[in-house]
Amino acid sequence: MIETTLVQRRTLIFATLLITGIIAQKGPTPPPPAPSSDTPLTSAPQSYFTEDGSLKCTLKQKEASQAYPSLKQCYIYTRSSCCTSVHDGYIQGELENLVSDSCMDNFDALTQYFCFGCFAKQSSYLNYTTRTIRVCKDFAARVWSGGNPDIDTLSRPSTAYDNCGLHVNSSIKIQSQAYKNATYFFKDVLPPFFENYQIELVDGLSNCYDWSMRKIMQAWMVASVLLLLVWV
Ligand SMILES: *[C@@H]1O[C@H](CO)[C@@H](O)[C@H](O)[C@H]1NC(C)=O
Ligand SMILES: *[C@@H]1O[C@H](CO)[C@@H](O)[C@H](O)[C@H]1NC(C)=O
Ligand SMILES: *[C@@H]1O[C@H](CO)[C@@H](O)[C@H](O)[C@H]1NC(C)=O
Repeated sequence: MIETTLVQRRTLIFATLLITGIIAQKGPTPPPPAPSSDTPLTSAPQSYFTEDGSLKCTLKQKEASQAYPSLKQCYIYTRSSCCTSVHDGYIQGELENLVSDSCMDNFDALTQYFCFGCFAKQSSYLNYTTRTIRVCKDFAARVWSGGNPDIDTLSRPSTAYDNCGLHVNSSIKIQSQAYKNATYFFKDVLPPFFENYQIELVDGLSNCYDWSMRKIMQAWMVASVLLLLVWV
């Protein structure tokens, strides 16, 4: 008779949880071809809130909800989304246009920056009057330097996109040559649908758009540890 010990069973369950978590992070397979890139600018909503007091999404003009069908490019926001799958497809097209199809998968932070329109709490970080988006400096640093959260990099040139190139404003730019620091980069590279906004780089980690795989992984680890404690 084969009998596994309690410890073996628990190790097995923990390993399964870990692997499902890692697979979940990878998200779905590559999405279909991108739409063309005419500029469908959004008009600013009249209010930050819906009639019942929920935060209003700029793109949907109502509160965030589960995206159905699921989002492909901005899939981390599927569960609570401020955009539809058509917005998501457009964002994907703009990303392919900016750094090319073969390069876009290398830039997680850039992708999440581009997914701003799908982010459920996006209107907390917008000012429709001044047309600014508040972006946390550590997140901006990751976008600018291809993953490095050190905010000192914002004031220096970066070579993160030099191998891919950046297609902005109908010309192809080499990051380290075209932008002296991140301020100039964020004038040219704006999230789709927010091209007529300005990026404000904000100190600290609250009250500004921030996103990291690290945070999501941490949340997931905490959840699985809790689950394990309950089970034990
Ligand atoms: C937007 O900016 C203006 C000018 O700085 C300010 O008066 C207003 O309170 C801001 N609105 C929000 C919602 O932050
Ligand atoms: C980039 O350079 C400009 C002009 O020198 C300066 O005003 C701006 O603060 C710099 N940005 C950063 C993030 O250092
Ligand atoms: C795009 O380039 C044109 C011509 O060089 C310039 O006038 C315009 O300000 C640029 N627009 C942006 C958004 O950088």
